[in-house]
Amino acid sequence: MKLLFLNGVNLNRTGIREKGVYGTQTLEEINAEIAKFCKARGVDCEFFQSNLEGELCTKLQETDADGVVLNAGAYTHYSYALRDAIASISVPVVEVHMSNVHAREEFRHKSVISEVCRGTILGFGKNSYILAAESFIL
Ligand code: DQA
Repeated sequence: MKLLFLNGVNLNRTGIREKGVYGTQTLEEINAEIAKFCKARGVDCEFFQSNLEGELCTKLQETDADGVVLNAGAYTHYSYALRDAIASISVPVVEVHMSNVHAREEFRHKSVISEVCRGTILGFGKNSYILAAESFIL
C-alpha cells in the first residue's frame, strides 16, 4: 500500500508560524516521523507540499497512491477547484487539520472538501496525520 501525504498552502511554514497553534516541529520533521510510522507498518509513503492550488489539483489527478492524507490549509475553506479534483478521482482522501478548526475563527468552521473526502481528522496536532494514515491501515 502507498499513501500520499499532501500539504497545501502555508504548511511549509509549520514550526515557524503560529507555534502555539501548529507546534514547533517543521513539516520536514513531522514528515520524518510519519515516514517512520509508515515504514514500521510496511506502507510506502510520498510527501508533497505546494502553495499553489493548481499544483495540488494536478498532484491529486496524477497520484498512484492507494490513499491520500490531505491538509489543504486555508484552501479547505474555499477551494472548489480542490473539491472538484478530489471528487474526480477514485482514490480515497482523508482530510486532516492539525488544529481544531471548530474552536477557531468562524471562517475555519466551513470545509468545502469534507463532503468529497472519506473522513476528517482534526485537532490532534501532528498526530492528525498519523491517525489519518492509521485509518487506511485498519
Ligand atoms: C489547518 C487549519 C486551516 O484553517 C489553516 O488555514 C491552515 C492549517 C490546520 O492544519 O489546522 O493553514 O489546515
